[in-house]
Amino acid sequence: METKTAVYPGSFDPVTHGHIDIISRGLEIFDRVVVAVATNSEKRGLFSISERVDLLSRIFAHENRVEVVSFHGLLVDYLKGSGYKTILRGLRAISDFEYEFQIANMNVHLYPEVDSVFLMTSQKYFYISSSVVKEVAHYGGDVSAFVPENVVHALKEKFNQE
Ligand code: COA
Repeated sequence: METKTAVYPGSFDPVTHGHIDIISRGLEIFDRVVVAVATNSEKRGLFSISERVDLLSRIFAHENRVEVVSFHGLLVDYLKGSGYKTILRGLRAISDFEYEFQIANMNVHLYPEVDSVFLMTSQKYFYISSSVVKEVAHYGGDVSAFVPENVVHALKEKFNQE
């Protein structure tokens, strides 16, 4: 039987429980999830690409159905090059929908074979984002409810709080 793989792209700066929730639920639908860290995000990053990949890889070290990669350039070019045709994304709010709709349509325009699958983010992670987590951590707030332990430590190290 063919292995069903979905590619979950994002900036993951840093990964949050919201992302982990989408990956875990993605694994209920797909055989494998490839978490793809985009290297050319317009946003200024706190963590380097290799730090983001490393944080994600440690979180999923015991899940051999998750692979963590980084890619440069267009997502569709990464998909074409690797032979994957399914994109996994999480939806939080109505504002996400408009943005996701735009990206998904552009991706289909660039690569008609591609399909996007959207999962609703769990309610408890509806209002978090990597930026909010970074801001709270920057001022010494407790973000342990929103990110895994290795990310809590990595944030403290970045902000010289350890
Ligand atoms: N729970 C909680 N937060 C979530 C979440 C979830 N399930 N899913 C996303 N978020 C947050 C992220 O933390 C991030 O927060 P931030 O803005 O504060 O950093 C925000 O939602 C959006 O992040 P992300 O999902 O990483 O998307 P993005 O907009 O940073 O990147 C790419 C989207 C990488 C998929 C897209 O830009 C891309 O494909 N880039 C490659 C270049 C390309 O092909 N461009 C053309 C696309 S048409």
